[in-house]
Amino acid sequence: MSLSIVILAAGKGTRMKSATPKVLHTLAGKPLLGHVVDTARQLQADKISIVYGHGGELLPQAFAEQADLQWALQEPQLGTAHAVQQAIEHIQETDKTLILYGDVPLTPLSTLQNLLSAVSDQSMSLLTAELDNPTGYGRIVRDAAQQVTAIVEQKDANAEQLTINEINSGIMALPTAKLIEWLSRIDNNNAQQEYYLTDVIALAVTDAIAVEAIKANCIEDVSGINSRGQLVQLERYWQQQLAENLANQGVTIRDPARFDVRGNLIAGQDVEIDVNVVFAGNVQLGNNVVIEANCVIQNTTIGDGTTIHANSVIDQASIGNNCNVGPFARIRPESVLADEARIGNFVEVKKASIGHGSKVNHLSYVGDAEVGSQVNIGAGTITCNYDGANKHLTKIANNVFVGSDTQLVAPVNIGEGATIGAGSTITKDVAAGKLTLSRSKQVTLSNWQRPVKQKK
Ligand code: UD1
Ligand code: MG
Repeated sequence: MSLSIVILAAGKGTRMKSATPKVLHTLAGKPLLGHVVDTARQLQADKISIVYGHGGELLPQAFAEQADLQWALQEPQLGTAHAVQQAIEHIQETDKTLILYGDVPLTPLSTLQNLLSAVSDQSMSLLTAELDNPTGYGRIVRDAAQQVTAIVEQKDANAEQLTINEINSGIMALPTAKLIEWLSRIDNNNAQQEYYLTDVIALAVTDAIAVEAIKANCIEDVSGINSRGQLVQLERYWQQQLAENLANQGVTIRDPARFDVRGNLIAGQDVEIDVNVVFAGNVQLGNNVVIEANCVIQNTTIGDGTTIHANSVIDQASIGNNCNVGPFARIRPESVLADEARIGNFVEVKKASIGHGSKVNHLSYVGDAEVGSQVNIGAGTITCNYDGANKHLTKIANNVFVGSDTQLVAPVNIGEGATIGAGSTITKDVAAGKLTLSRSKQVTLSNWQRPVKQKK
């Protein structure tokens, strides 16, 4: 059976009070609509169409890389049935259609699979939930035999219907041919003068098409976002889920309420993550990695046994086994640390490789550099990599010792085993195995006197 998925995302999102369309606001670092599209993809649909309107071309632009998505403009927005109608040209060749909402980001794949298995040419399904406070939602009306007979919107419901706790999530799956026919029979004769997609339920009952209501496992599975308050609430719920999953895999997260993954985090065993750590993009941690408090780590791989000390910021780096980074270190893109490297406090590393066991312990900038193994770079060393127009490379061979407060003016090569005296400005290549320094000779003036304050 072929499948189309229609994602409704034309609504305004007034309560977000934002210039950004609601479905482009992010949860766990990904736009709400991105979550829905990614889940839809896992269902292997033949077509995924997105109905857009408010926010205009910002939506298609935000997903321009996913060229196979079909976009259907709904202008003006006359209700959910009218919205689906705009996508008819994209769905008509398929057998089943699944309707999703662009602002309901966390519906699990398995729930949607259950909905789809309940659809045939003689049956449809919808996803419902039991709420303590169902205010605002469409209510699921059932007959004496507990069969679903209709959905009644809040604004059209009578007093008795308003007491129903089972609500419509809006997500439903239908035989496409019936859906298209029913859409043509829906009118806007209701309190909001909108074309309600929910009217298909009563039409299904009339046409003797079975309606199966599937209850969501939890409210968050069907929660839609209408305000920033709801967005942060769902964000915290989701982070809690991610933290629980990691804990079950052997990761200690000191406080799941102060833990954020905005992308994908893969972690080995006996990893410890202290409070206020943010992971973004794709991050991979080996076994026994320790991340101390207040670190931001993005698109980075970290090897076994490495500790990232507090307040470090790492982006697009590859860090080996048993390294020590920070506290207060900044590792910038395209940096590679070999095993047992040590980057200390107030050190910035950019597009540099640091060899096995090498140390840059204090207050240094190492950019555009190749540093060999067992190198010691003293405090306050700067690679002067930029001449105002171009970047140049600094190469430091194995076993070099760079004295403190040295400037290495690139391009420059430091030979194996060289020692550079503290306070040097190195502008020419340095010979291997020798001591090189550049500084004026120290002098002492024996007849100099410290000035004293003159009496007036
Ligand atoms: C809808 C359902 C209601 C359900 C609730 C769940 C109808 C008539 N009612 O109500 O039963 O309990 O969702 O949240 O379907 N949209 C469009 N174009 C439109 C109108 C809406 O694309 O013209 C999109 C919105 O962007 C949103 C979704 O459809 O993603 C739902 O719209 P919304 O206005 O929130 O529907 P409700 O009236 O809350
Ligand atoms: Mg709504």
